[in-house]
Amino acid sequence: MKNIYITRQIPEIAVEMLRAKGYSIDMNMKEAIPSQTDIIEALQRKPYDAVITLLTDKINAKIFDAVPNIKLFANYATGFDNIDVVEARKRGILVTNTPGNYAYCIAEHTIALMIGLTTRMVEADTFVRAGKYQGWDPMLFVGTDLEKKTLGLIGAGRIGERVAHHASRGFDMPVIYYDVVRNEKIEKEYGAKYYPKVEDVLKLADVVSLHVPLLDSTKHLINDARLKMMKPTAFLINTSRGPVVDEKALVKALQRGTIRGAGLDVFELEPKLVEGLAELPNVILTPHIASARESARNEMAKIAADNVIDFLEKGTVKNLVY
Ligand code: GLV
Repeated sequence: MKNIYITRQIPEIAVEMLRAKGYSIDMNMKEAIPSQTDIIEALQRKPYDAVITLLTDKINAKIFDAVPNIKLFANYATGFDNIDVVEARKRGILVTNTPGNYAYCIAEHTIALMIGLTTRMVEADTFVRAGKYQGWDPMLFVGTDLEKKTLGLIGAGRIGERVAHHASRGFDMPVIYYDVVRNEKIEKEYGAKYYPKVEDVLKLADVVSLHVPLLDSTKHLINDARLKMMKPTAFLINTSRGPVVDEKALVKALQRGTIRGAGLDVFELEPKLVEGLAELPNVILTPHIASARESARNEMAKIAADNVIDFLEKGTVKNLVY
């Protein structure tokens, strides 16, 4: 019998799919994020054949050394920066992700952060709940428009493409973008204009939205110098990975008015916030929930389970990340 370990609770559909194949499943039901030691202890309890990991699990040589028999780490996420893929590949260990049809969720969350910032919705909600509303005031929570403002995408994959769709079709926003490869679809369908340098997009955009994976080349892509290139009226949205932004530099930029505001679903030192961030009124902070929809979570579970099944039944996987 094949043994599968799941490092934390994920939707039941994955367990059902794996059980239907006759596999034995152990799913860690504790709420706390397991440490590497916890994961190693759990994986050494049985001869596991594959593991479903979460983006909060740090999977690297320490784990590979401790459980050399495990040849598949099926990550329950589109991103896989939590796994040392280079080391895995060297050892012939397969790593998969879950790139399903849920880019729309992240795109919707991105747009929600944009609208939240420009309408100052969260600040206003806090104000009303605090009993501070004394009656209509023409100067109260005056916001800015999204309509016809320029959207600058850094990264134009499936998520960026969907954000471009909503912004251009919904708000008549001209779209400009930077990526390492051009996306003909957003150029043709949404009139998006390509710029070969990140800096050009930062200088011209009213809203900059990040949709890149976390790689050595994208770590701190948005740093002090680049924040200074943005318009003082611009907003920065990050629904990608926290370390893409130098969060200390961002806090400084927001405090000094270098840019107007930021909407963040991810944080550099997740779940910790850099000092000063939570005190700023011009930010909206959500706890990495852009894909937290029943539809997306179930789809991710199905893809992760399929990756395990393909590996165990055929020895090949669809969503290999390297
Ligand atoms: C979520 O952040 C994911 O990578 O799926």
